[in-house]
Amino acid sequence: KSLKKYNTFGIDVTASEFISIQSEGELIEVLKLQKPFFVLSGGSNMLLTKNIEALVIHMNNKGISVENTSDTSVQIKAMAGENWHDFVQYCVTNDYGGLENLSLIPGCVGSAPIQNIGAYGVELKDSFIRCSAIHIKTREKRIFTKEECMFGYRNSIFKNDIKGQYIITSVTFELTHKTHTINTSYGAIEKELSKNEIKQPTIRDIANAVIAIRKSKLPDPKEIGNSGSFFKNPVIPTKLFTEIKAQYPEIPSYPVDDQTTKVPAGWLIEQCGFKGKRWGDAGIHKNQALVLVNYGNATGKEIVEISRSIQKEVADKFNIVLETEVNII
Ligand code: EPU
Repeated sequence: KSLKKYNTFGIDVTASEFISIQSEGELIEVLKLQKPFFVLSGGSNMLLTKNIEALVIHMNNKGISVENTSDTSVQIKAMAGENWHDFVQYCVTNDYGGLENLSLIPGCVGSAPIQNIGAYGVELKDSFIRCSAIHIKTREKRIFTKEECMFGYRNSIFKNDIKGQYIITSVTFELTHKTHTINTSYGAIEKELSKNEIKQPTIRDIANAVIAIRKSKLPDPKEIGNSGSFFKNPVIPTKLFTEIKAQYPEIPSYPVDDQTTKVPAGWLIEQCGFKGKRWGDAGIHKNQALVLVNYGNATGKEIVEISRSIQKEVADKFNIVLETEVNII
């Protein structure tokens, strides 16, 4: 079976076997087969470079339930197979706040905790309460609390100590209700709001602003294959940052702590002249150099090659090693 429509990069590789799971019970039954498995949900943070010789489990369990409500907050549980953006819009429509800055991120609810998705000043961990997961070997269900997940910048325990051992089946969030804490810390949001003369934004206004910003910069995977940011934004010693800034005073940066500074990988890549370049069907997006794209029939290998040249040029020019954010399979 071709996986082309199951990964947002639109890479045409095949799976030797494929099954779509509608419930936790079905998942447990499939795991009893004890075969080599490969789990796929939104396929939005992976680059497939070869055919998958395993049973691909497509997480497609649906459902959203409000579990606890008070006057000012709700706990809301979403099953892993729910589309992330649709879930966020459901929350905004029902006046549940906290996830609106994460509008339009591709992928599904179940994979969101793995890399602690984040955008425009908010991360998943800010409203995450717990998730349930099934242990692949024992098929036992386990609840992971927020502490246990060990969230960091695009990071969690699911990418480290227990990588590949669990399948997340649902995620629970605590969201605000009626009274919200609006996050407009990201300059682009402020700009978008003032362009529309919005002075007291609602969570719907924030969601709309984020959607507009993302649409203007990031390619829609339905039109041009991509996995969002291909690299993480590197955190570098402030000493190195100061040296670079002396030469490039315009370099953007985000403070981290006394010793380190985060710089946008997109800026570094643009300085190396990659923005908008294209080789065959593989290339770098014209509006955001951090996003590698597949214009149609690029292979995973072609994209990886481009990513290696980017890493090499950035290392040569700035002495910074870019780490991939996307999982290369
Ligand atoms: N920039 C350039 N050239 C480029 C791209 C960016 O000079 O080609 C500059 C921008 O002008 C700006 C700075 O770099 O000054 C930051 O750019 P942007 O606001 O687009 O954000 P980013 O740092 O490139 C990160 C996340 C995105 C997230 C945005 C908004 C990472 C790896 N990426 O990108 O996340 O949407 O911030 O919060 O942290 C993703 O993870 O897939 C993703 C899209």
